[in-house]
Amino acid sequence: MNQEIINKLKAIIDKDIPLISNLSNASAILNEMNDINWCGFYLVKDNKLILGPFQGEVACTTINFDKGVCGYCYRQKEIIIVPNVNEFPGHIACSTKSKSEIVAPIINNNNKVVALIDIDSPIYDRFQKEDKELLNQASEILAPLFYE
Ligand code: SME
Repeated sequence: MNQEIINKLKAIIDKDIPLISNLSNASAILNEMNDINWCGFYLVKDNKLILGPFQGEVACTTINFDKGVCGYCYRQKEIIIVPNVNEFPGHIACSTKSKSEIVAPIINNNNKVVALIDIDSPIYDRFQKEDKELLNQASEILAPLFYE
């Protein structure tokens, strides 16, 4: 399943089309993961995280770097798995359906976090080591779209 998602991401990414088109298709591919209720991107812009292409319910459009799981991921510059969002101080609940979450940074050629991949699940403890590996690979596949 995860390998299929990786293969599809590799196949769909095209540096000659706009970023928004690539990320829209990437969100549709990531949405094939089992037991998730939201997946998408936050883009680093004007010292904030701004909502990018996603699949799922309406979500918060702006997140400050010091807020939420997303802000924490931005600051830590590493993949964050939250097994139970109710136990994460400062978690931003865009949907009450979300019970666990994984957020991965996309890091460009200048070692800057330029975007985040955010995935929510309606099941506690949904995200495991293999999902971390999946998002790690997805982030590496998408990173060249942000090269400066
Ligand atoms: N839960 C995130 C906010 C984004 S939504 O999950 C789409 C957070 O705490 O940063």
